Amino acid sequence: MQALGTPHSPNATRVMLLGSGELGKEVLIALQRLGVETIAVDRYEHAPGQQVAHHARTIAMSDPAALRALIEAERPDVVVPEIEAIATQTLEALEAEGVVRVIPTARAARLTMDREGIRRLAAETLGLPTSPYQFCDSLDELQAAIDGGIGYPCVVKPVMSSSGKGQSKLDGPADVAQAWDYAMAGGRVSHGRVIVEGFIDFDYEITQLTVRALGADGQVETHFCDPIGHVQVSGDYVESWQPHPMHPAALEESRRIAKAVTDNLGGQGLFGVELFVKGAQVWFSEVSPRPHDTGMVTMITQWQNEFELHARAILGLPVSTALKSPGASAVIYGGVEATGIVFDGVDEALRVPNSEVRLFGKPESFVKRRMGVALVHDADVETARVQARLAASKVRPRAV
Ligand SMILES: Nc1ncnc2c1ncn2[C@@H]1O[C@H](COP(=O)(O)OP(=O)(O)OP(=O)(O)O)[C@@H](O)[C@H]1O
Ligand SMILES: [Mg+2]
Repeated sequence: MQALGTPHSPNATRVMLLGSGELGKEVLIALQRLGVETIAVDRYEHAPGQQVAHHARTIAMSDPAALRALIEAERPDVVVPEIEAIATQTLEALEAEGVVRVIPTARAARLTMDREGIRRLAAETLGLPTSPYQFCDSLDELQAAIDGGIGYPCVVKPVMSSSGKGQSKLDGPADVAQAWDYAMAGGRVSHGRVIVEGFIDFDYEITQLTVRALGADGQVETHFCDPIGHVQVSGDYVESWQPHPMHPAALEESRRIAKAVTDNLGGQGLFGVELFVKGAQVWFSEVSPRPHDTGMVTMITQWQNEFELHARAILGLPVSTALKSPGASAVIYGGVEATGIVFDGVDEALRVPNSEVRLFGKPESFVKRRMGVALVHDADVETARVQARLAASKVRPRAV
């Protein structure tokens, strides 16, 4: 690996985060601890990561010209995408021109920003098991896809969306038109395209955090964290825990799938591979080429949390995915629509044994916006889940 420099000096190692939410904030903190000079970019001022970086920049990252101008002006050694809504064609061009290294690769950022790119890669190129699916550009096409074999129940999602936005489950013909309209309103860009997937009646779902990091010989090695179980409500994560107990055959299959996808995406960094499990059967759902929201639990369960693993992998440093203790995380929502809110009850939350609280410092709260997370470790993962929910419930956001 290359030597690490000193911030604010000509030899600084400069890393730019594209997206500076709660996940980016923790990656930035991990980089800061290694003396890396950090540039936090977001679309709004005082984003969580901007509050802990050397430099804060606010631009529309989906604007190709604005993104290119910023990267050419700042000249970071490495660019780390933290969100999907980025002008990834600009990153591909800059990577090809040798201007900057993109984590894990610009191609991975492009393929995963769009459900179609990653789904076709996983199912059609790599032959991995997924839900049956079809892409549709109109209500008529959607109805034809369902009638032609996808059937009910099924799930409709805009091709470009995250956190469950625009997503609905359809139980019968009466739900189709509404699902189409909801997807059109919830997509990131007015794209007019959806994926319809057969509904998988899984026993549970996991995130398989997978790290591609350099070994002593300079070759990329793949490391797996313990499986993370989680609960999603309306496509958004509300609690997670680690380790999730798994049948050995299902764990082996999960890691086979995770390895196949991450090998293809390439580069160095941490990935969150989302999988559905029923008995020993495993389906690939999607992958983030970056830390995963459900992986926030690793801030209390691993010696090196997912953000530290990402930072180390990016910099060519060795990693350990060893578990420190079982534990759980529970999301703290805003509950109110207001700016500059206050949080009551943090002391009560921290009186829950073995607990920690992270408040992200977001300037504006929405009812369903993730504003913080409660973390609890316990020898028993079920106890940790109960206690994490309890700690999260003690924190009470309030408008002033
Ligand atoms: N085909 C399916 N069958 C059953 N459940 C599904 C299916 N697709 C999605 N889900 C459920 O909805 C959740 C969100 O789906 P998905 O991960 O595709 O959306 P997302 O908007 O990318 O969410 P996020 O950004 O939070 O990962 C899944 O974690 C799962 O619980
Ligand atoms: Mg998901």
